[in-house]
Amino acid sequence: MLERIVEEVAPLRGAGVAADYIPALARVDPGRFGIALADLDGQVHGAGEWETAFSVQSISKVFTLALVLAGTDESLWRRVGREPSGNAFNSLTQLERERGIPRNPFINAGALIVTDELISQVGDASGDLLAFLRAESGNPDLRVDEEVAASEAAHADRNLAVTHFMASYGNVRNPVPEVLDQYVRQCSIEMSCRDLALAGRFLAAHGVRRDGTELVTNRQAKRINAIMLTCGTYDAAGEFAYRVGVPGKSGVGGGILAIVPGRCAVAVWSPGLDVRGNSVAGVAALDHFTTLTGWSIF
Ligand code: DON
Repeated sequence: MLERIVEEVAPLRGAGVAADYIPALARVDPGRFGIALADLDGQVHGAGEWETAFSVQSISKVFTLALVLAGTDESLWRRVGREPSGNAFNSLTQLERERGIPRNPFINAGALIVTDELISQVGDASGDLLAFLRAESGNPDLRVDEEVAASEAAHADRNLAVTHFMASYGNVRNPVPEVLDQYVRQCSIEMSCRDLALAGRFLAAHGVRRDGTELVTNRQAKRINAIMLTCGTYDAAGEFAYRVGVPGKSGVGGGILAIVPGRCAVAVWSPGLDVRGNSVAGVAALDHFTTLTGWSIF
């Protein structure tokens, strides 16, 4: 079935444009495509370029949220909301009206708060994240792409502005440059579809990791999946639910992690993005996937 999806989306490969506001991402060929599926037993299947590493970007926001919620109280939710923003992922406009409390943890502003919280909990937030991703994917070679990190850090005016703005409302606890550095490093982690499907599998498994331990409770996993569905693709979350119908989180590297609760995690990658920052061929592939399997939650 995965091979069939590769064929179905072939005409869309190269549609859209690779993200260019982070110059190191603009050099990737937008026509590339891969898909991988990890089931609850940790078996992984793939097609296309499913073992090629790419920049996970905003998909990292799912994992940092899970790490912050793991084993803590729910105090994060005093600092960040859980409603779709209906705005672009890097928008500033709602923040002033809502007094420095971002709408949700998956827009940049919200993810910067989550990173700030993870720094307070563990210090080296991106190192903690990498250790988790290596363990879940079984890939000890996962790393930060230093070139992408440097490129993003050099073009971070908007994320810096967002973080300073939230700091002016007292919603940032660590120094802004440190929050930004850790955020940029988490976004610049390189993973393949294979790695991502395995790393996201715990969300299909009600919070249980590959080794059988619980990262988050069943209730927390349910809630993270709900936020992925309503906020994971920004101002296109309604369109994503309409076409795909499962929780999903996109990144401007062209990846999307989708969760079919109780069944599997699916990762797709194709760098050509639509105007809202979601992979054109990636969304189409997931649309085919949930149609072929009947696994849309709707
Ligand atoms: O902060 C940024 O703008 C990027 N590091 C991540 C943005 C992103 O992936 C949004 N996703 N579609």
